[in-house]
Amino acid sequence: MVTRDVTGLPPVVVLDEIDSTNAEARRRAEAGEGGPLWLLGLRQTAGRGRRGRAWETGEGNLAATFLFRTDKPPAEAAQVSFVAALAVADMLAGYVPASLVSLKWPNDPLLGGLKVSGILVESGASPLGGLWIAVGIGVNLARKPIDAERPATSIATYRDSPPPHPTEAIETLVGAFERWSRVWTSLGFPAVADAWTARAHGLGEPCTARLGTETLEGVAEGLDGDGALRLRLDDGRVRRITAGDVFFGGA
Ligand code: BTN
Repeated sequence: MVTRDVTGLPPVVVLDEIDSTNAEARRRAEAGEGGPLWLLGLRQTAGRGRRGRAWETGEGNLAATFLFRTDKPPAEAAQVSFVAALAVADMLAGYVPASLVSLKWPNDPLLGGLKVSGILVESGASPLGGLWIAVGIGVNLARKPIDAERPATSIATYRDSPPPHPTEAIETLVGAFERWSRVWTSLGFPAVADAWTARAHGLGEPCTARLGTETLEGVAEGLDGDGALRLRLDDGRVRRITAGDVFFGGA
C-alpha cells in the first residue's frame, strides 16, 4: 500500500488488491477514520453497483472511493453524487472529446450515449459524529464489461492511443472532484444542478423509470431543487423520482 499526498488535495491510498473500495471505506469509517481520503483499488475483486448489482472492474479500469465525514443531513449529503458525476464528466473530457460526454440521471456518466462509469454513494453514522460518506466511482478506462442487457463502453474505445492508467486518471479525477466540491460549498446545490443539467442526457425525451415496485413512462423534464428527477407522466401529472433507474431509447 502506498499513500501519496498532493499538496492541498486529499491523499490517495493505493491498494494493490481489494474486495471493494466502498467496502474498505465502510470498514475504515466504522473504525473511526473520517478522511477526507481517496482509496484507489488497482484490482477490485468484488465491486458493488447500485441497487444490489455487482460491478465488474476489468483490468486497467479505475475503481476508487472518496471517504469523508459531514454534519450535513443525509438527503443533502447525498447530493454529492452529482458532484461526483460532474467530476467524472470533466475527467472523461480530458481523454475524449467533451461533446461525447453526458450524464444520465441520477449519476451515470455516458460516453457516446453508453454507460462508461458508475457511482455508488454509501453512508452511515460516523463514530466521530455526523455521517461518513463513501463516494465510489468506477470508470471503464481500458475495457468494458460484457453485459448484453446493459450495453457499456470504455475510454479505450474512443482513443487511438492507450487509455490512461488508473494512477494517472485518479489524479485528474481528484482535481475535478475538488473543483466541483468547491462549487457545491461556495454556491450551493443550484449551481451544481445547473452544471449537471447542461450535460444531461435525455432531458425533454420520453423515458422509462424503473422504481423499486413500479415502472413509469413519461418525459424527463429536469431536476427538482433537491436533485429528484421531474417526470411528466402521460396523464400530465409530474412525479418526483428520488430513486431508481431511467432508460431513454437505448441507454
Ligand atoms: C453503478 O451501479 O452504476 C455503480 C457502480 C459503482 C462502482 C464503483 S467501483 C469503485 C467503488 N467500489 C465499489 O465496490 N463500487 C464502486
